[in-house]
Amino acid sequence: MTVHFIGAGPGAPDLLTLRGRDIIAACPVCLYAGSLVPEAVLEHCPEGAKVVNTASLDLDRIMAEIEAADAAGHDVARLHSGDMSVWSAMGEQIRRLEALEIPYTVTPGVPSFSATAAALGAELTLPGLGQSVVLTRVSGRATTMPEGESLPNFARTGATLALHLAIGQLPRVVEELTPHYGADCPVAVVHRASWPDESILRSTLGRVEAELDPAVTRTALILVGPVLGREGFAESRLYAPDYDRRYRPQSAESPWADWQPGDD
Ligand SMILES: C[S@@+](CC[C@H](N)C(=O)[O-])C[C@H]1O[C@@H](n2cnc3c(N)ncnc32)[C@H](O)[C@@H]1O
Repeated sequence: MTVHFIGAGPGAPDLLTLRGRDIIAACPVCLYAGSLVPEAVLEHCPEGAKVVNTASLDLDRIMAEIEAADAAGHDVARLHSGDMSVWSAMGEQIRRLEALEIPYTVTPGVPSFSATAAALGAELTLPGLGQSVVLTRVSGRATTMPEGESLPNFARTGATLALHLAIGQLPRVVEELTPHYGADCPVAVVHRASWPDESILRSTLGRVEAELDPAVTRTALILVGPVLGREGFAESRLYAPDYDRRYRPQSAESPWADWQPGDD
């Protein structure tokens, strides 16, 4: 028996990996985080599968479901929204599985920050404007931020910020970021990226509070940084006509002049 953690993606049911789909189809038990995992993904479960929405269960009860599946010799598909490497609570489940010596696998999913960037048609790393993306959040009722991981500290780097679980604290986000990025800094808020009712706001730190639809209170990602302006960045050297590289040697003297695909 194995527990398979699977990233179910940001919302659109076809933003699921083929591997994830096939594992779901092979598991007689499916536990899914119902608050964000799209119901349509559950259609891949085999007929007669036990399908449990874990949104209202605590960790002990989730583990009880897993242990019952283990006793019956049934593999479990464990679905979380987006990708499990961030804010999925997979870590604590794995710790319990390891203590119980229950094997597990992890299949990645499309994270919400990627779906958000895709909705915006945005590259989040543009030469000269930003080369780092900080995936972060603000303190919430359930989770406080470790000392040092404050918005002002990240803002000092000038990197592109992808703020999760933060839409309910937009005034604080604006207040803490404006001294570092300036009121004109571009901001984008994408609500329910990839869902049929996805909505996008392109704004600035100075205007975003006034312009955001007050109905947007959950499942939104805030992106902040100069890259969102999509202006004033250099072209990448990688594709410059004179850039000497393995795949495009520029002269007979190039260290890669004799290189052939497959040589590495
Ligand atoms: C508990 S975290 C889950 C993150 C998830 N594991 C991921 O890979 O993105 C939930 C937060 O992710 C963001 N989020 C998740 N799905 C989203 C979507 N479809 N559109 C915009 N933001 C989303 C929101 O900030 C939301 O508050």
